[in-house]
Amino acid sequence: MCGIVGATAERSVSGILLEGLRRLEYRGYDSAGMAVWDGELIHRLRREGKVQALADALDGQPLTGSAGIAHTRWATHGKPSEHNAHPHMSGTSVAVVHNGIIENFEELKSELMISGYNFSSQTDTEVIAHLLDQAIKSGADHLSAVKDTVASLDGAFALGVIHEDKPGELIAARQGSPLVIGVGIGENFIASDQLALLPVTDRFMFLEEGDIAHLTRDEITVWDINGEIVEREVTQYKHATSATEKGKFKHFMMKEIYEQPTVTLAAFQDRIQDALVNERAFGEQAAPIFDQVKQIQIIACGTSYHAGLIAKYWMEGLAGIPCHVEVASEYRYRPVVIQEGTLFISISQSGETADTLAALRDVKDQILASLTICNVPGSSLVRESDLCLMTNAGPEIGVASTKAFTTQLVCLLLTTLVIGRRFKITEALERQIVESMMLLPALIEESLQMDSDIELMSQAFAEKQHSLFLGRGTLYPIAMEGALKLKEISYIHAEAYPAGELKHGPLALVDKDMPVVTVAPRNDMLDKLKANLQEVSARGGELFVFAGCTQKVQSGEGVHVLGMPDMPEILEPIVYTIPLQLLSYHVAVLKGTDVDQPRNLAKSVTVE
Ligand code: G6P
Repeated sequence: MCGIVGATAERSVSGILLEGLRRLEYRGYDSAGMAVWDGELIHRLRREGKVQALADALDGQPLTGSAGIAHTRWATHGKPSEHNAHPHMSGTSVAVVHNGIIENFEELKSELMISGYNFSSQTDTEVIAHLLDQAIKSGADHLSAVKDTVASLDGAFALGVIHEDKPGELIAARQGSPLVIGVGIGENFIASDQLALLPVTDRFMFLEEGDIAHLTRDEITVWDINGEIVEREVTQYKHATSATEKGKFKHFMMKEIYEQPTVTLAAFQDRIQDALVNERAFGEQAAPIFDQVKQIQIIACGTSYHAGLIAKYWMEGLAGIPCHVEVASEYRYRPVVIQEGTLFISISQSGETADTLAALRDVKDQILASLTICNVPGSSLVRESDLCLMTNAGPEIGVASTKAFTTQLVCLLLTTLVIGRRFKITEALERQIVESMMLLPALIEESLQMDSDIELMSQAFAEKQHSLFLGRGTLYPIAMEGALKLKEISYIHAEAYPAGELKHGPLALVDKDMPVVTVAPRNDMLDKLKANLQEVSARGGELFVFAGCTQKVQSGEGVHVLGMPDMPEILEPIVYTIPLQLLSYHVAVLKGTDVDQPRNLAKSVTVE
């Protein structure tokens, strides 16, 4: 989703801004632009398409100056085009970049048009530039103009503003969309996330909801929602910068798939003490909160929602705790009944997903407490939840989530164990599960060795239009996740079904052009699943079955069995995810799609 970068420095900032935009590319976008103040005037350059198109344009028309803002746009109001790309300007005086949506922009636009402003784009953002210009022309100073303008906007947004009469000054505002300040030495920055600024600083200040910040090269002043000057803590970024480079891999997605043995370990190793889960990992307040939990409500979107679906099997099946799971965009817009003792768990790799955040805010007063399982320290969900368990996966750059998902599952298993102790989970069972978790990195490593077999298998998918994914039990959500990965990066229509539903509709679709992928659990439902496989193969469907060696599913005409390592049942959903990630990756590479930045998708969905 839209990315913002801004800088004020002694040196020329356009290189910093351009590199920042490159580092925000992973968020998803369709045009890019930059505005730089050269000591006298603001110069702007925008291009539809990739940041590289902007970089090429800058080669021919360099922008030099010591303060500037830049943006990658993910179209909401108005199609992707140079005219709609940010920064937006009012005349030559003020330039604005914006992430989010201004809900009352039509009303504001009509008023501005009556006052004589002309609009050159279809965006909601342009109203902000004109409102600023109007406020300044009626006597407000630069800063009060931003404060007044922000007060008139409805919706969620993050803004970066420069003005031609304010040398080297940058104003930032945050209300509902992420924005971080990068603290440099004799230079300061803003960005949608920390990754954009890692080449220039590792010290960050997170803005709170409603904050407005004024930055010069040497000073940062922040006002809170009540207009009071506040100090915001400066934190040090912890991950190695190599986390944001591809290294030997061709794509970030593949690098991130291969990081899973390490990051799943990082998600649990420091949280285990004497073969039991240390509940202090969830925060100081965790124990008294967990003592009062009567049921769980999980809210998430996309891949994170699939993690939540698996957690339901664990919470109810292992621990005996009632657990509901729902996508945030549905939950937040329907009347809900929240029972006493509800722990609200949000799952989110970014910590900024607009619907998930809104769902939390809506129910805050009615729940026992909130816990977020999240990958981005300092993100909105982390700051606004009572408890948090970080997934520790390190930055995930590929839009299609991989390592963030498997680490979410590890964290959800830890959560099931600590809360489940108060319900059905005995100490012996907890120790047994913790012992099983120790095997996880090696099992993931082993399943990564299937890579070349899966690369071969991907050829059967590259020319197809449709595919079906089947699973049962905890592997049904894994089938959903496998189908989602294939859709996201290879643009092949993929549907996931609980295998038992096959006869109730999808079987009608099965023929030789519809490959069927099955994840075969080693549990008491295996015989039922085998019957489902017969039904597919009898109709000429080509079957790809991921199954353990002891599962006795045989390869044959139209049936390809890919052997998985044997493993404790509790780990199956985590480990069986790996080959499905590899499958979608190889199909996408064969099709030549943009693996890391699939069309129309964004990494951090900060608008509803
Ligand atoms: C986007 C991303 C997905 C992610 C979903 C939920 O669609 O592309 O990878 O699963 O948002 O995001 P979250 O950050 O809340 O996990």
